[in-house]
Amino acid sequence: MTEQGFLETTRTAYDTFAEEYARDERNDYGPLPFERAMLGAFAEYARASAGGLPVADLGCGPGKVTSFLHGLGVDVFGIDLSPEMIALARKENPGLRFDVGSMTALDLPPASVSGIVASYSIIHVPDEALPSLFDGFARVLAPGGEVLVVFFTGDERMRRTEAFGYEVALDYHLRPADRVAEAMRAAGLVERARLLRGPEPHELLPRAFLFASKPREA
Ligand SMILES: C[S@@+](CC[C@H](N)C(=O)[O-])C[C@H]1O[C@@H](n2cnc3c(N)ncnc32)[C@H](O)[C@@H]1O
Repeated sequence: MTEQGFLETTRTAYDTFAEEYARDERNDYGPLPFERAMLGAFAEYARASAGGLPVADLGCGPGKVTSFLHGLGVDVFGIDLSPEMIALARKENPGLRFDVGSMTALDLPPASVSGIVASYSIIHVPDEALPSLFDGFARVLAPGGEVLVVFFTGDERMRRTEAFGYEVALDYHLRPADRVAEAMRAAGLVERARLLRGPEPHELLPRAFLFASKPREA
């Protein structure tokens, strides 16, 4: 699938079920202690290295992570491919900034963010697009900037053809954490830590939380 192709199908799918997705995801991180811990650790590092620059939440959806980090004192804004998701994020989180855009073509100046969080959004980016995705992350991060990517682990592409009663064509790329870490390393991002966890009782897939940073001296 071409780059344009995967972006289009992902956008169409999330635009289609944005409302229902946002309703399902409105709950907090109450039942997810590891999420709270990982986002809490990210928030501490991001606050410490901010230097007056904000954090970008890439693939923010309706703004759950954006709002959680904001609550932890992080200066954060969201970007999402789906205009419907961005409309909902703005409605749900008045006062926070949300922009429509693709994390594969970030419309941000070099070294303009102190951190990047991408929570369950790189799962919709195929392997061949990972090198340029992470080059883009490295370009917009300030030296010393922090990255947290969260994704489903495995080694297959799953296609979802139905969601919330709608017909969709949405690809999920499940990958081993090592593959993502290697793609980040190739872009100059140095791994700091990772957590691999199995699914909670209400979940289906195992997950990874991968922390990296952009060296202060490249
Ligand atoms: C599973 S949702 C995750 C939402 C949110 N980050 C969370 O953790 O609750 C994936 C989101 O990533 C967005 N997304 C997928 N590919 C994207 C891309 N190339 N650029 C920006 N957003 C993207 C989708 O539109 C969708 O809102």
